[in-house]
Amino acid sequence: MMNADTVNARERIPDSCCFVIFGVTGDLSHRLVIPALYNLEESGLLPEKFCIIGVTRTETQSKTLKTDLMKGLEKHATRPVKQEIADKLFGCLTSIHADPSDPKSVENLKAQLEKARKDKGVTNHLFYLAVPPGAFKPISEMLGAAGLLKEKDGAWRRLVIEKPFGTDLQSAKQLNADLLKLADEHQIYRIDHYLGKETVQNILVLRFANGMFEPIWNRNHIDHVQITVSETIDVGTRGSFYEQTGALRDMVPNHLFQLMALVAMEPPSRFDAHSVRSEKGEALAAIQTQTEAEALKNSVRGQYLAGRIGDRQVGYYRQTKDVSPDSTVETYAALKLTIDNWRWAGVPFYLRTGKALAAKRTEVAIRFKQAPFSMFRTTEVERLSQNYLVIGIEPTEGIMLQFNTKVPGPQVTIDGVEMKFRYKDYFKASPNTGYETLIYDCMIGDNILFQRADGVEAGWAAVQPFLDAWKKAGGKGLAMYQAGTDGPEEAHELLERDGRRWRAIDGE
Ligand code: BG6
Repeated sequence: MMNADTVNARERIPDSCCFVIFGVTGDLSHRLVIPALYNLEESGLLPEKFCIIGVTRTETQSKTLKTDLMKGLEKHATRPVKQEIADKLFGCLTSIHADPSDPKSVENLKAQLEKARKDKGVTNHLFYLAVPPGAFKPISEMLGAAGLLKEKDGAWRRLVIEKPFGTDLQSAKQLNADLLKLADEHQIYRIDHYLGKETVQNILVLRFANGMFEPIWNRNHIDHVQITVSETIDVGTRGSFYEQTGALRDMVPNHLFQLMALVAMEPPSRFDAHSVRSEKGEALAAIQTQTEAEALKNSVRGQYLAGRIGDRQVGYYRQTKDVSPDSTVETYAALKLTIDNWRWAGVPFYLRTGKALAAKRTEVAIRFKQAPFSMFRTTEVERLSQNYLVIGIEPTEGIMLQFNTKVPGPQVTIDGVEMKFRYKDYFKASPNTGYETLIYDCMIGDNILFQRADGVEAGWAAVQPFLDAWKKAGGKGLAMYQAGTDGPEEAHELLERDGRRWRAIDGE
């Protein structure tokens, strides 16, 4: 993990490498990968001997690549673009065209890599697959068949795979099996951009670098956990992607489960990729498997109707471009999960995520058990407010502790107050895309922030009963909600049944 602000003495400059981007003309490269490389260049964190090879599908795209990427950078950069930094970055860019369905076209890539070896002595290769999921396998196979994934003479080969990694348990297992025939696990970097977020990485530090949280981080003291990722954006132009995916697949087995795993895992014996990823995988594997009937009872899926979010009018999901007029795809999902181990047995984890909601909010809220009320029975106090520890990821990056305090005055009255830590009050950080740490870690060969095959499969295994049950139920049980609200009423009922309630999504 690094801080892309400044090079500090302990930060390692990565080994020389060729950074090969498949899908270089796509949205992801323009929006995140190239701006992140720019920020790393500006922070002095790219190796001296570095080159980018952009792989395009056509020769025409290849010819205009540099100009197109520059335009993209100007649009998406998180910091003011300095010409000399951009020149240095794009000065090392070459573009080639290759098509995985044409095995001969890999020769272009081989020739370019060979040129980098001869001219600059660069022998390490990082292949970044910023492509649609259907292309992960053919491109990897093309690289494998050309011998480009073989590590020899101390030179490394790394394969970065974007999300979504599979569409269900079976396809994720198959993709893992296919990739592991071509490369070793240590060469595969499965990206989940949530792990690039500082506040997400901080969950480990909060839990394990402080003496006071760990002793109470268990079923004796915690009543339940709420994980919320609410978004105001609607499906917009992503209709065809979303119709295949839905809110559950898009967000839960990856982003929400990363948060859940970091909250639920046991302390790793070392802060290294093997120990951390093993403990995270164990936590996900301990999520109790539900029958389809239980899955239906413990979940809510919703779809948004037209509505207003602030001053923006959002149309009905079913009227979105490329969306079927009778679509039953969910744009909202809420689940109740339990983890069957000594730390968590009996503590529900409530997860919710949705599009076109009233507010953007990503947070993990740990609700502690209520203190006994008996000593206050003889006072004016009617009830105690709830004790929450909230890890804020968006919009506020920070940590909040909610506790009861005496209201000043002669009588005993009690009110809930909040103690707040905000990152921005303590640390100054240049605006990043969130991909800097991930790309940097990949270049130094640290896969602590990437998903391992077993973790990905454990995540899919936990959501599979929900996917199956929802598929069978079709339109039955789909709860409609108006855009601009906090989701369907049924999601409130999910918690009310247990005598609990969700935190507001649009509070401070
Ligand atoms: C992506 C999903 O992985 O994450 C999007 O495909 C979603 O649908 C996005 O909007 C949310 O990311 P963030 O960082 O804005 O919470």
